[in-house]
Amino acid sequence: MLHEIGKKHGTNKCGPLHSFHGESYLHVYERYFGSIRQEPLNILELGVDKGASLRMWKEYFPRAQVFGVDINPVSKAHEEERIRISILSQDDKAGLEELASSAGGFDIVVDDASHINQLTIASFQILFPFLKQGGYYVIEDLFMSYVDYSRVEDKQEFWDGLLLRMQERGVELKQSRTSMTDFFAAKLADLDSRRGQIRFIHFWSMLAVMQKGSST
Ligand SMILES: C[S@@+](CC[C@H](N)C(=O)[O-])C[C@H]1O[C@@H](n2cnc3c(N)ncnc32)[C@H](O)[C@@H]1O
Repeated sequence: MLHEIGKKHGTNKCGPLHSFHGESYLHVYERYFGSIRQEPLNILELGVDKGASLRMWKEYFPRAQVFGVDINPVSKAHEEERIRISILSQDDKAGLEELASSAGGFDIVVDDASHINQLTIASFQILFPFLKQGGYYVIEDLFMSYVDYSRVEDKQEFWDGLLLRMQERGVELKQSRTSMTDFFAAKLADLDSRRGQIRFIHFWSMLAVMQKGSST
């Protein structure tokens, strides 16, 4: 169902590069979201681009309010009824906190923005406190967490100069998977020690799905 709706709207979340063992990201999400489809949820996706996935969420969750965040101002054009888009960087603490407070928190957060580890982790740290109990936090495209962006030769070509803009903002492009692995290892240690608010972390191919528990 979600996979078919995603195809209709043209998000790459259902394409061959985002599929493994015959299932796309959207088949995976259906397992978590199928039973809450009809609820009046607040859904935030980091990374809007042309708005395909936001329109998919809007159709799949008929009572949801869909929020998008993108650093590129052209994404704002994809706002429509039940889809609100903020032009912010995914590590803009004040901006994201203001958005999250005005929304009243989120039931689902999906990070499909820069896939730069420093920023992915920053978003989680800013937004997890605003995730509602029982809510889901998804990090997509973890294959990118292994890429050292400082080695990308044509930084202007890469995502329309995104890397150069990130560099100007002081983001460290030299990265290794270690930062992401350390991030997950700390969460796993919390889980194993019955500490913290994360109920589970499920690793799928290229994805991590985390659920916030209902109490510690
Ligand atoms: C893969 S596209 C999103 C595709 C969309 N989620 C979909 O499935 O249709 C990634 C987007 O992330 C945005 N982006 C990159 N770096 C960002 C940052 N630091 N903060 C917010 N958005 C960023 C890019 O401008 C781009 O539009």
